[in-house]
Amino acid sequence: MSRMEELIEQLNKYAYHYYVLDNPIISDGQYDKLYDELAALEKAENRVLPSSPTRRIGGEPIKEFAPHTHLNKLYSLDKRNSFEELAAWDEKIKKAAAGDVEYTLEYKLDGLTLCLTYEDGYFRCASTRGNGTVGEDVTAQVSTVKSIPLEIPFKGVLEVQGEGIMRLSALNEYNKTAKEPLKNARNGVAGAIRNLDPKVTAKRNLDIIFYNVNYKRGGDGKLLSSQAECIEFLKANRFKTEMLFCTKSMSEIIDAIKNVDKNNLDFLIDGMVIKVDDFALREELGYTDKFPRWAMAYKFEAEEAVTKLNDVIWQVGRTGKLTPLGRLEPVELCGATIKNATLNNYGDICRKGIKIGSTVFIRRSNDVIPEILGIAEELDGKEVPIPKTCPACGAELYENGANIFCPNDYGCKPQVCGRIEHFCTKACMDIDGVSEKTIERLYDTLNVRSVIDLYNLDKDKLSMIEGFKEKKTANFLSSVENSKNVKLGNFINALGIPNVGRKTAEDLAEKYKNIDALAGADMESLLSVDEVGDIVANSIISFFEKHKALVERFKEIGINPQYAANSGGILDGLKIVLTGKISMPRGEATAIIENLGGKVQSSVTKDTDLVIAGEDAGSKLEKARKLGVKIIDDNEFKSLINS
Ligand code: IVH
Repeated sequence: MSRMEELIEQLNKYAYHYYVLDNPIISDGQYDKLYDELAALEKAENRVLPSSPTRRIGGEPIKEFAPHTHLNKLYSLDKRNSFEELAAWDEKIKKAAAGDVEYTLEYKLDGLTLCLTYEDGYFRCASTRGNGTVGEDVTAQVSTVKSIPLEIPFKGVLEVQGEGIMRLSALNEYNKTAKEPLKNARNGVAGAIRNLDPKVTAKRNLDIIFYNVNYKRGGDGKLLSSQAECIEFLKANRFKTEMLFCTKSMSEIIDAIKNVDKNNLDFLIDGMVIKVDDFALREELGYTDKFPRWAMAYKFEAEEAVTKLNDVIWQVGRTGKLTPLGRLEPVELCGATIKNATLNNYGDICRKGIKIGSTVFIRRSNDVIPEILGIAEELDGKEVPIPKTCPACGAELYENGANIFCPNDYGCKPQVCGRIEHFCTKACMDIDGVSEKTIERLYDTLNVRSVIDLYNLDKDKLSMIEGFKEKKTANFLSSVENSKNVKLGNFINALGIPNVGRKTAEDLAEKYKNIDALAGADMESLLSVDEVGDIVANSIISFFEKHKALVERFKEIGINPQYAANSGGILDGLKIVLTGKISMPRGEATAIIENLGGKVQSSVTKDTDLVIAGEDAGSKLEKARKLGVKIIDDNEFKSLINS
């Protein structure tokens, strides 16, 4: 028995460090060994102590959810949708308080409210909010959440409230192997908690973040007097919390809300919560029927919507890959009218069970094209037909993995134009003045069929193209001429080798120093390059087998770049992070930084030398400030690169 107690204490401590503090102190293997020892002892003794971690695996399915009466009513939150309304609320609160008011700022977590009861230091039961007074008992399901403490230092009666969530990383992991992928993290958590079989819940790897002490009696006998103290109390009892800060300034809160970088969090939020910190003032302000008057949610605009899928069309990209595009019944999302959304590839359509005529969930994040997440309601949907011939050129298509391809590399217009467009971008040959429209005109009028043809254009030919007046023609021709001095990494990127992006192109340039060495590289040699695996290596080998003539043609034109290490640029060796909205496309900013010798990182670390923060920069900017990293804005960045 004493060994069992000892093991439970150790295992719970390790789990706390791993799941709550995010700072493991032993290896998984060591943990598993101790866990197995405990499980064996429990079997031999036929006894499982109340805080044993073996209780987390999820017991037998239950027949129904029993009702659970909360010790105190669970309130919901009133909400505001604009900063003006929020400021007006602040004025009202300050008037009632007859002075300044300290507020706390928290995330409004988008999951499922859960209420956990502890007695004598042990986890006793968990319930959903229900109607605020009576919820459903979900103890068996919540027991499987590895981050909740099964035993706490507080020895009285305690009810704590938090939000059950599924982390986006957990959702991703789950969907990698799931037969039926989850549409989103909110459905993921709600479905898992309201599932009668706790083993299903356990598989979802849920988490709970706590924000409220709903009831507290006995134990240390201390009264909590503020939200900050409440969060400290929760932390001291090993609950996971996420409070941001306290302040008396509503404009500081509004600034912080503007700066929240939702896309950098590992959980969904649908707004922010502002709470009066002082409990005595809360008492004075009181409650309406449904809401506390001392708290307010600021709701973000919805990023997901449901609408009807009217049709699916197929678009051909530069690699010949067909991408399905959903035609939607127009719907408002984040202040824009959405008519199209992507479905990634054919495999994605099958996995999500998408049918034409059904209603679908769509999501939009930042400025990327909206995505269809899954079916909302099946209705009388019809299967999405697999195209057999290319919608652009009529060639017979072939399947490769989850994708469908058009084999007609040189005779399929969108493929040819897509390759030319890619070739001309800043991160490739940096040829100016070639929009998608221009490339189509070059294709239609001047018979441009390959990137090589760009080097045979002249004034006379270009005069046949709409928009090519004298100045534009001169600029274009000199830009084409200048492109012959391209750097090796950009040139490799420009070739458009399938599966080779900008970063890999740069790594290949560094390793092989010229195109002949790369074209002659074998499997073993390629695999020694950072992040190059079988697929990429094969792709490179077969590209050069197929395109020997192309490389020779480039040489004839005078394009045969040799690798030169970046040096002497004004950003030489600097590690730089871009965040927020800047006034040029990210790809372009990255190319400029690299041309000046800098390296672009995706996240701010202590090694970061410089952060370029555009409008609406969020958590990366915050982190840079915390770490004391040098920060410049969009205008300073522009003058820096122009210098
Ligand atoms: S406090 C008495 N804080 O939002 C105040 N709620 O729309 C009780 N929620 O029912 C709520 N994050 O499920 C509070 N930081 C947070 C929250 C939060 C998410 C949920 C909660 C509530 C719903 C209201």
